[in-house]
Amino acid sequence: MNFAESPVIKQVSAQQTFENDDPAKRAAGFAAVDRYVRDGMCVGLGTGTTAYWAIVRVGELVASGRRIAAVATSSETESLCRRLHIPLAGLLSRPMPVAIDGADEVAPDWSLTKGGGGALFREKAVALSSERYVVIITECKLVPILGAFPLPVEIVPYAAPYVRREIERRCGDIEVVRRGTGGEPFVTDNANWIFDCRFGRIPDPRALDELLRGIHGVVATGIFHRVACDVLVGYETGQVRSLPRPGRTEPA
Ligand code: 5RP
Repeated sequence: MNFAESPVIKQVSAQQTFENDDPAKRAAGFAAVDRYVRDGMCVGLGTGTTAYWAIVRVGELVASGRRIAAVATSSETESLCRRLHIPLAGLLSRPMPVAIDGADEVAPDWSLTKGGGGALFREKAVALSSERYVVIITECKLVPILGAFPLPVEIVPYAAPYVRREIERRCGDIEVVRRGTGGEPFVTDNANWIFDCRFGRIPDPRALDELLRGIHGVVATGIFHRVACDVLVGYETGQVRSLPRPGRTEPA
């Protein structure tokens, strides 16, 4: 089927936020749902343009009669689920065998940078609550080391000056940019702000995550360390590759 003609996609066409027609993202999102989501399951659904396709695929399955519920990682994902008539569930209101989400960077050890869409706190809550966290990306997200993508850090607005001072003091010469447009801060679903921190290189993601979370006023960072269970890479051709686990070589 030409996916532009999908009845489910027509239903969401008014939803501009994550809508896209990238075949590589679509391939990854559809493959994740088709591999891991079964009738009767509750699935965690991510936020962003790649996760969009997993949500659309779940919508198609629900439209065809499957009883699938979703835990949404953001208000955008929640409203997309509502439009697609995907029943919503609260975090851990029932077991969640799978959660599917995109990422901004994936390192060889499967450490991730997330939060480009500003949903990092809820995304991490859903990831940690799931039994299997499946990451869906396109090839451009694979990096030799995290850090080229500015690290999103969710902070309590009141503490912003202190958090900025402490990041600069503890991390050295780091550019810290408050996310926003036209002088107005971007406000997260948790009524917090995001600092995008330009580290350039993050050689030890776990240590940096711990250091930043030790600053009073930091709510969460976009570093997801040892959370991913599978990483699916979608390609323009529609092919999808499951990355070999870190430490293992691909079969010849
Ligand atoms: C949102 C996220 C997204 O998963 C991440 O930004 C990737 O998005 P996209 O698939 O649109 O590139 O972390 O907070």
